[in-house]
Amino acid sequence: MIEIDPERLPRHVAVIMDGNGRWAQQRGLPRLHGHRVGKESVRAVVEASRRLGVRYLSLYAFSTENWRRPPREIDGLMTLLRRYLDTELGKMMKHQIRLLAVGSLRRLPPAVRQALRATITATKRNTGMTVVLAVSYGGREEIARAARAIARRVQRGEIAAHEVTEDTFERHLGTVGIPDPDLLIRTSGEMRLSNFFLWQLAYTEIYVTDTLWPDFREREYLQALAFFQQRQRRFGRTDQQVEMVPGARAVLAR
Ligand code: FPP
Repeated sequence: MIEIDPERLPRHVAVIMDGNGRWAQQRGLPRLHGHRVGKESVRAVVEASRRLGVRYLSLYAFSTENWRRPPREIDGLMTLLRRYLDTELGKMMKHQIRLLAVGSLRRLPPAVRQALRATITATKRNTGMTVVLAVSYGGREEIARAARAIARRVQRGEIAAHEVTEDTFERHLGTVGIPDPDLLIRTSGEMRLSNFFLWQLAYTEIYVTDTLWPDFREREYLQALAFFQQRQRRFGRTDQQVEMVPGARAVLAR
């Protein structure tokens, strides 16, 4: 039994879903099989987040660097993504889940891009949790794009250079309007950010587990949330300045 305090849930959880390939290789299976089973972990974590009341869940589904993978694996991942969008739409509507995407969507195959756009449009008025899919996403690319957009505004005289602040920057990122993640989960043990949410993760608590993504299900997710609840977040202040939000404890049984 893992105890989770519903009053101190992270508002936004971001996940680097790593280890699908290794999971498959350990079993003598093709890498794509690992991704397929990983899709079930995506379902489990979305469902647990919704049930617990996590407001935002961001999933790193495909990085700009992943375009360098063998074409067969890329095709397989794109097909998985498209099918996931098709099969989950009903559930998203039923549970009021809103889908957003960040990344260079223009690089995606047209069928995937269309499925993403259709799902985003269909779910845009849903008021429950928000799932953010990072696809064809790179943190540096996102920052460079924001810098270009701001530079153009300065050139046009819409804004003065000295008026460019952190807020201006945030408004030009793909995650505009979404609070920064409180918790980052990375599976399969690597201590790296892998170009994910470089701007947004400035103050995020980081949880790394050796569990490979296909094995990361509700129980492992609750463990990550319990870790988060043990952390005291200081945002650069001293212990004394930080007040923990007191709240009634609740027990979530599996
Ligand atoms: C990393 O494992 C995982 C990915 C590159 C893709 C993640 C995709 C899914 C979980 C499936 C579908 C996604 C959705 C949103 C339905 P890896 O291949 O890098 O593993 P390795 O490091 O062991 O090789």
